[in-house]
Amino acid sequence: MTVGIDAIALAVPHGYVDLSELAAARGVDPAKYTAGLDVHQMAVAAAHEDPVALAANAARRVFEVSGRSPDDIGLCVVGTETAVDHSKPIAAFVHRLAGLPAACRVYETKHACYGGTAGVLTAADWIASGSARGRSALVVCTDIARYAVGSAGEPTQGAGAVALLVTSSPRLVELELGSSGSYARDVHDFWRPLWSKEALVDGHYSVQCYLDALAGAYGEWRAATDDHELARRCYHVPYGKMARKAHRSLAALDGRAVEDADASFATEVDPSLVLPRQVGNIYTGSLYLALASLLHGQAGELEGRRIGLFSYGSGCTAEFFSARVASGAGAAAAAQAIAAPLEARGRLSIAEYEAIRGADDDLDRASVGAFQTPAGSVAYQGIDQDRRVYSVP
Ligand code: HMG
Repeated sequence: MTVGIDAIALAVPHGYVDLSELAAARGVDPAKYTAGLDVHQMAVAAAHEDPVALAANAARRVFEVSGRSPDDIGLCVVGTETAVDHSKPIAAFVHRLAGLPAACRVYETKHACYGGTAGVLTAADWIASGSARGRSALVVCTDIARYAVGSAGEPTQGAGAVALLVTSSPRLVELELGSSGSYARDVHDFWRPLWSKEALVDGHYSVQCYLDALAGAYGEWRAATDDHELARRCYHVPYGKMARKAHRSLAALDGRAVEDADASFATEVDPSLVLPRQVGNIYTGSLYLALASLLHGQAGELEGRRIGLFSYGSGCTAEFFSARVASGAGAAAAAQAIAAPLEARGRLSIAEYEAIRGADDDLDRASVGAFQTPAGSVAYQGIDQDRRVYSVP
């Protein structure tokens, strides 16, 4: 039996900030952001675009574009590190807003940016083990990445959700189960205390932790598989430059020269960065946004070829695994119009972005009606009797 990703759908906020404009406002050379970090636009979530609304919109879209029915879902996992409640999972909201059946295992996973991968690999094992009894899994990664305004992390923010249907006989990619390489170590590279909406980060240390984790997970994957040939590599993308650093690091682990890594970057990695460069870091969804970018651009030409996937979650844990692009994936990816949600966006001024950020701390206490909630998609409306309220189109 083959198991993997049958369909992908994105949900992104309607507003984004241009990073050259942000650099000018912060008195930074724009080249530091666009070349030094390789970041170009970052999605900014408005009040009504909370992690639940983003997740629900991605989930509803994945059924629309795939032609699959919510009735076939027996497992729903939402990976997030920007949950909206200490107890009630985003998955419970998604279960209702996406119309999933009552006979469904539903929960949320957390390990920084790795939470979505925990969902994907658990879903794949659930299907491969027979526990699914012919049903499919819905995995949604949803997050809003926030660092302090004016901090070094600010240009590496983003927001969005990626919904993935994990099935047998998948139409996009078949996961190679059994050879995945894992790594974990207790580190304080990036964290978000319970009192804060913004992440705290030891930025340069976090880069080193990411690379150490890549070495550990990749080494385990190499040891578990005989064939190390990969046509493309998708990395967790906090910012574009990190993927370049990762690619160099892998080349060194393979015994190849840095020049080799740089020469192969345009072919092996760059296609996976097209969408992340327009959205920024979406934490749990970042690896899957990179995969979506790759499939959007190249699914047809990659049919039958293998790709490597690296997921990193600060704190930290990581996994390197591989997949094969399914026969017919080109047509399936085109039918799913993966990048379409990015077409309806508008640019925010820095003043508009700062006004949104200035209201962050009120979001979880705002009464219904306190801010605008456009029709047409699931939107967070505010709080009524301590309960979050959502409008559904
Ligand atoms: P910084 O310290 O301000 O930047 O913040 P820098 O001084 O290190 O410069 C960055 C790069 O720009 C350097 O290139 C400079 O040379 C270059 P590099 O040496 O790295 O190749 N540069 C220029 N290039 C062209 N023209 C110029 C210029 N000036 C400088 N004029 C930092 C960088 C990443 C630390 C910061 O943005 C940050 O803290 N970001 C958040 C943390 C992060 O994203 N870490 C990544 C690894 S951890 C991870 O991925 C997990 C995460 O997603 C969370 C989770 O798991 O949930 C974050």
